[in-house]
Amino acid sequence: MKLCMIGTGYVGLVSGVCFADLGNEVVCVDNNISKINLLKKGKIPIYEPGLSELVAKNFKNKRLNFSSDLKKSVRESDIIFICVGTPTKKGGSSADLSQIYNVSKEISSSINKFKIIITKSTVPVTTGDEIEKILSKKNNKKKFSVASNPEFLREGEAIRDFTYPDRVVIGTNDKKTGKILKNLYSPLISKGASYLQTSRRAAELIKYASNAFLATKITFINEIANLCEKIDINVEDISIGMGLDKRIGGRFLRAGPAYGGSCFPKDTKAIISTADKFKTNLSVIKSVIKSNENRSKILLDRVYQILNKKIRKKKITFLGVTFKANTDDMRDSSSLKMIPWLSKKGAIINYFDPTGLKKEFSKLKNVTHQTTIKSAIEGSDLVIIHTEWNDFKSINFKNLVKGKKFIIFDMRNIYSSSKIEDQGFRYYSVGK
Ligand code: UGA
Repeated sequence: MKLCMIGTGYVGLVSGVCFADLGNEVVCVDNNISKINLLKKGKIPIYEPGLSELVAKNFKNKRLNFSSDLKKSVRESDIIFICVGTPTKKGGSSADLSQIYNVSKEISSSINKFKIIITKSTVPVTTGDEIEKILSKKNNKKKFSVASNPEFLREGEAIRDFTYPDRVVIGTNDKKTGKILKNLYSPLISKGASYLQTSRRAAELIKYASNAFLATKITFINEIANLCEKIDINVEDISIGMGLDKRIGGRFLRAGPAYGGSCFPKDTKAIISTADKFKTNLSVIKSVIKSNENRSKILLDRVYQILNKKIRKKKITFLGVTFKANTDDMRDSSSLKMIPWLSKKGAIINYFDPTGLKKEFSKLKNVTHQTTIKSAIEGSDLVIIHTEWNDFKSINFKNLVKGKKFIIFDMRNIYSSSKIEDQGFRYYSVGK
């Protein structure tokens, strides 16, 4: 079976290279020619641990190729994965599906034999129905099958998540398609991944419901953390105590800054928009969005209190600015709210991130990128650990800036308070 991945973002590139690594012949397509040329030279446009090695290996053994010729690539393939972006519509909350539909039109004129067309991008319920309509205009329905196969990859862990998934979800009512796709995923199923075949619409909704539920879990624990701070309880004890109940589970119960990234903020809004369309009130998810949007304000208020209500001229360091560790992605990172607010209030900000300078801050007053942890924290009044990079997990602050004292606000609860206080620093964390 020949595979074609359309779109070389996180979803398309990671899935494409991982399918190639499982022994399939894969072509990854993008309309961005310079991106394709870079990929052919082994240059990876995204930061994802392990990805460049895997691309180089599979490109060399010719199982993986790159092309900007969509039509030719589709003609030569049996299974087509649509992996283009579905961002939030400008000025709205629903998903912008223009890339999905444009690609579908292009595929439509290249169906020369039976093909399975699969949405791997996160798409609202009934998008598969629309794609089917587009393809039916030019093609006999026997010549193609439209399925849904949502991805559950996390940035920074994407290769592991692809190789050892909890589950593979395939949405199709067509027996032949189900059989072919189960076979495609058989190396992962035989390693223990659960396989679930549902209707196409159900598969589409499983993705949104899963992301909305995970976002709810995080928001829930963040609110419990607010309560813990008032009554001298450690939120980590609560997460552990709750998580030991198998019905709840301990993962995604880490309190911290607002959840961010390219998925949870976008997908929670999009599922509300779908529900509105079908006249259903998803009130829980609505309040999750609201609570998360308020999260940065709560943490900034804490910064204000920690600094005795004086922010002007205070030197504040951000360790990490990406929305989470192991990614260079800044989309919806809470630092994008915090740093501009503090800069506006007159703070002098230094930041260090293992993935380097961020253009998002380049126009802000008194915000400077530093290339080392040491230079970032030198002369600081307050050090904020914003992202849980491994690089920040065992800093000896005392040795790093001899004789200097500053306050540490650990928004990811990386350190134990006694360890930092023993070094002579005032230490604050979240939910304690
Ligand atoms: C998320 C889902 O976890 C993936 O399953 C899904 O495939 C992906 O979206 C997607 O839809 O493509 P991702 O956005 O890469 O993956 O990142 P997560 O690891 O889920 O983290 C999202 C946010 O939640 C981050 O801001 C993170 O810091 C935060 N988070 C996560 C917490 O604050 N606490 C936790 O316990 C876990």
